[in-house]
Amino acid sequence: MVGLFLTRSPAISRLNIFPGIYFLATSPTLRLQKHRKHQLKTKTQTFSLTSPPSSSSFHTSRFYSTATRVSSLPKMETSKFDDNNLVVLGIETSCDDTAAAVVRGNGEILSQVISSQADLLAQYGGVAPKQAEEAHSRVIDKVVQEALDRANLTEKDLSAVAVTIGPGLSLCLRVGVRKARKVAGSFNLPIVGVHHMEAHALVARLVEQELSFPFMALLISGGHNIIVLAHELGQYTQLGTTVDDAIGEAFDKTAKWLGLDMRRSGGPAVEELALEGDANSVKFNVPMKHHKDCNFSYAGLKTQVRLAIEAKEIDGKCPVSSATNEDRRNRADIAASFQRVAVLHLEEKCERAIDWALKLEPCIKHMVVSGGVASNQYVRLRLDNIVENKNLKLVCPPPSLCTDNGVMVAWTGLEHFRVGRYDPPPPANEPDDYVFDLRPRWPLGEEYAEGRSEARSLRTARMHPSLTSIIRADSLLQQQTQM
Ligand code: KG4
Ligand code: ZN
Repeated sequence: MVGLFLTRSPAISRLNIFPGIYFLATSPTLRLQKHRKHQLKTKTQTFSLTSPPSSSSFHTSRFYSTATRVSSLPKMETSKFDDNNLVVLGIETSCDDTAAAVVRGNGEILSQVISSQADLLAQYGGVAPKQAEEAHSRVIDKVVQEALDRANLTEKDLSAVAVTIGPGLSLCLRVGVRKARKVAGSFNLPIVGVHHMEAHALVARLVEQELSFPFMALLISGGHNIIVLAHELGQYTQLGTTVDDAIGEAFDKTAKWLGLDMRRSGGPAVEELALEGDANSVKFNVPMKHHKDCNFSYAGLKTQVRLAIEAKEIDGKCPVSSATNEDRRNRADIAASFQRVAVLHLEEKCERAIDWALKLEPCIKHMVVSGGVASNQYVRLRLDNIVENKNLKLVCPPPSLCTDNGVMVAWTGLEHFRVGRYDPPPPANEPDDYVFDLRPRWPLGEEYAEGRSEARSLRTARMHPSLTSIIRADSLLQQQTQM
């Protein structure tokens, strides 16, 4: 049974605005728990969504920054700090989606626009950085303008601009950051640098009123597979991560090798085909069975899938739509068996991580599951069982907020902005060759000592200090300067 706190919004309609650009109209969010609701208005329809945690629960210390420097506060009108008057534009370009959204401090989503690189994904079978950068550059102005228009606002109505500064592809991040700084510089707006994975986690606080710190989060996407304990805003302990590939990458490669339609990315295609298959027909080993930690590995499972595909003589270049009945059944069996084992790996590690987390923070009540792969219904159901057995409640944002989007960036920007973590407006005429603070490899939290993996520690070169360590250092500096 799906737990009481699982937020489900199965039908998301994408209305075309420009070729390849979509405005997401969120369908009425189905919620089973009883508590106060806000009426949220989008341009196309009104839907109900629970209010975010009230601002009184936030720390009010100022002079923090999620960017490199600790900045002093620019003069702000006090009304801007009132929840209803706070309005933030969020920009996301870390991977293959160009997204922008405008969100109000009370959790009202005023607009949400996404331009996806579906055709490029299908053409290259994955994200090609240079082509992705060019695609972002082509649409970024339109996407941001559309987000403002849909919200019925202009830049002058904004309180701040939030933008993903990492982790992600540098070439792609740069496009969003340049645009964000241009808007912020031209309209004298503060700017908040957002951690992409923190945004995946915190968007759950926008949809679930009762979700307060501390909580756990399993964040599963194309490039990341992390399980964290969120102590408070910006303070995370990483209980586990992947030692090689993320689960989304395994879904994408499986889809490509099975000859599936990649235009919505590989995950949804595998999920759909898996419905036709027998999940116990192909014997795949569950990764890292004997590792008593909370880390993940999907590279070996990918190899197992490739070998199974070769053994059945499946030609990935032949689209599944043209396959014979038997060939299609073989592909479906592999899709279903892969999905079962990939998710079993998540289940096993989550169970252990919950035990670890409860020792560190016994009052945890919620586990968030977010990131693109969390939009998978099988993933949601299986993890709901695990979480329920441990007496926690699962919080899964609706699928449109699990995959990359601008709302999560705007909301995370709002959360940090409210506690004074932001940078002052950039200069209006920043030179074209200005070197941006981009963080392509940027851990979210500090590693839990018991969970450290030998395999992974080899890969930590050229990593940026974690978001949590930066915030702690800033906080220490503030305390010292105030003494
Ligand atoms: O979070 P996200 O949108 O972008 C990244 O930050 O990577 O996640 C994208 C990943 C892709 O690997 C995609 O195949 C996967 O999420 N994904 C899914 C589903 N929808 C998206 N995986 C499994 N089932 C889905 N329904
Ligand atoms: Zn993502």
